[in-house]
Amino acid sequence: MRILITGSSGQIGTNLALHLQAAGHEVFGVDRRPNSWTTAIPTLLQDLAVPYQQFVGGIGGAPYPTCDVVVHLAANAKVHELVTHPHKSMENIAATFNVLEYCRHQQVPIIFASSREVYGDIHRYLTDEQTADFAYTESPYSASKIAGESLVYAYARCYGLRYIVFRFSNVYGRYDNDIERMERVIPLFMRELAAGRPVTVFGRDKTLDFTHVDDCVAGVMRGIERIYAGQIDAATINLAYGQGHTLVAMAQLIAYALDIPAPDIRVEESKRVGEVTYYIADLRRAQELLGYVPQIDLARGIAMAVAWQRDWQQQSH
Ligand SMILES: NC(=O)c1ccc[n+]([C@@H]2O[C@H](COP(=O)([O-])OP(=O)(O)OC[C@H]3O[C@@H](n4cnc5c(N)ncnc54)[C@H](O)[C@@H]3O)[C@@H](O)[C@H]2O)c1
Repeated sequence: MRILITGSSGQIGTNLALHLQAAGHEVFGVDRRPNSWTTAIPTLLQDLAVPYQQFVGGIGGAPYPTCDVVVHLAANAKVHELVTHPHKSMENIAATFNVLEYCRHQQVPIIFASSREVYGDIHRYLTDEQTADFAYTESPYSASKIAGESLVYAYARCYGLRYIVFRFSNVYGRYDNDIERMERVIPLFMRELAAGRPVTVFGRDKTLDFTHVDDCVAGVMRGIERIYAGQIDAATINLAYGQGHTLVAMAQLIAYALDIPAPDIRVEESKRVGEVTYYIADLRRAQELLGYVPQIDLARGIAMAVAWQRDWQQQSH
C-alpha cells in the first residue's frame, strides 16, 4: 500500500511510518517541520493549515504522489497551549478541511486522529461513552477535534468519503521525548524523577487510560488494512488500553521502573483549565471491527519506555 501520513514528524506519525515501512509499505509524510528522530521517512515540509492548499510541494511544485489511504495526524495537540492560544484550534480545523478536500478530489479514504477529549470530562458529565456531545466541549483543542470529526462525517454523507475516526488516549512509549516542543506527562515524569527532581500531579483522583504506542500503531494498522480492503466504510473507534490509572499510580510505576525507592510525587488538588479528569475507554467497537486486543499494560509499557529512553540517550551521546 501507499500511505500518506500528515503529521509524520510527530510521535504517532513517526512510529506508524516506520512500522509501515518495516512491513513493506510505501510512506509519504507531510509535516511543517522536519523529523527530529529519523531521516527514513520521506517528508514534504508544508503547513497544511494555510487557507488554500493545492497539495503540491517541493521547489518544482511536484504533486503529491497517489496513495491508497490518508492518515491525518497533523494537529496542534497540546491541550493547554490551545487554551492560551485558541487560534491554533482553528489551524487544526483548517488543516482537516484541506486534507478532506484532497481526499475528496483523489477519492481516497481517510483515517482521522481524534481524541478522547471529544467526550468532555465524562466523570463530571456522565455521558454515554460512545457518543460525544459537543455541549460538553472542555477546551479549544476538544472543539477542534469535534469540528474535525464533524467535517469527516459531513464529507462521508455528501461525497461518499470512506473513513475511520480513531479516538486516541494518552499515547506514550517511543519518539515522544521532545518535551521542550510537546510536554507529555510520561516522558516529563521520567525525566524529572530520573534527575531526582519532584513531580506534581494535578488532581489526586485524576484517572486516565494510557496507551502504549505499539498498541496504538497496531490498531491503526488494522484500520488501514480494513479500509483498504473495503471491509470498513465508516467507523468511529476508541483506541486505548481500556484500563484507568491515577497519575499518582503512573508516577509510582515510573519510579519503580527507574529504581527510585522514594520518589517526590506532589499533588495539587486543583484541576487545570480545559483538562479531562477521568477517562477509561470502551474498546468494544475496536474489538468487534478490528479484532483489536491491546497487549501492553501500563507497568510493562513504562518499563519499555524507560528502556527506550535509555537506549536513545546512549545512542545520541
Ligand atoms: N499522542 C496522544 O496521546 C494523542 C491523544 C489523542 C489524540 N492525539 C492526536 O493524534 C495526532 C498525532 O498526535 P501526536 O502525539 O503524534 O502529536 P505530535 O505533536 O507529536 O505530532 C503532530 C504533528 O503534526 C504537525 N503539524 C501540526 N500542525 C500542522 C500543520 N498545520 N501542517 C503540517 N503539520 C502540522 C506537527 O509539526 C507535529 O509533527 C494528533 O492529531 C493528536 O491530536 C494524540
